[in-house]
Amino acid sequence: MNRIDNKKFSGEPGKEVQVQKIFSEIAPRYDLLNHLLSVNIDKIWRKKAIHSLEWRENSSGRYLDSCAGTFDLGLELVKQDAFSGVVVSSDFALPMLKQGLNKITTNIFPVCGDALMMPFPSGSFDGAMVGFGIRNLADLGTGFRELARVLRPGSRLVILEFSVPRNWILRKCYHFYFHNILPVVGRILSGHAWAYTYLPESVKDFPDPQKISKKLLNAGFKEVTWRFLTGGVVTVHVAVR
Ligand SMILES: C[S@@+](CC[C@H](N)C(=O)[O-])C[C@H]1O[C@@H](n2cnc3c(N)ncnc32)[C@H](O)[C@@H]1O
Repeated sequence: MNRIDNKKFSGEPGKEVQVQKIFSEIAPRYDLLNHLLSVNIDKIWRKKAIHSLEWRENSSGRYLDSCAGTFDLGLELVKQDAFSGVVVSSDFALPMLKQGLNKITTNIFPVCGDALMMPFPSGSFDGAMVGFGIRNLADLGTGFRELARVLRPGSRLVILEFSVPRNWILRKCYHFYFHNILPVVGRILSGHAWAYTYLPESVKDFPDPQKISKKLLNAGFKEVTWRFLTGGVVTVHVAVR
């Protein structure tokens, strides 16, 4: 098999294995492609996500970056002047973590672990963030329950994830880009035959923000809100534990 069938694998261990394999294989080119394919807008999305975390309420706290990849979201937090806490950056694809090691500072702690079974005690964190990771989880409900478990009551979760724009002109451009340009550029630059075909497919099959919010509420979160960035290309979800 050389493609992830999202529907087929949803909720099954097979998706985990395939996702871990994809990210392990594209790790050397991940950062380059990330910034190139998003024309650097991903940096603005990350800044906005960190702002929504309201970390200033606990600037010396312990924060989790789940599905951290090469650390970019956690780095956005630790580089804030007033931040004096730590970020634990967790991912199950070791090559992604290794690839980002040269970027990190002493207040980022990499951990290789599965977001569906996190190696942390309950109530360990004062806040958590997930950047472009939840779409890849084999079981969203389990992932959200794990996030709820490791967060202390009253702390915040911020999720940054692709979504589908509402405006039909933007949606047409988005689909054209996602299905025609991104897979080709991704294939040429990453050298990976199908990883960048998986991205648009995984977004297409992913639940909309209303459904995500419902799942967050069911997992034990409250005050669940979301807002669109760049016309809905990306959504920032915020929830309180
Ligand atoms: C698209 S990358 C995002 C990386 C980073 N957060 C960013 O903003 O660039 C998705 C990451 O989620 C990780 N991931 C997917 N499912 C996971 C799971 N069940 N447990 C831990 N990491 C997971 C992948 O290994 C990959 O590094």
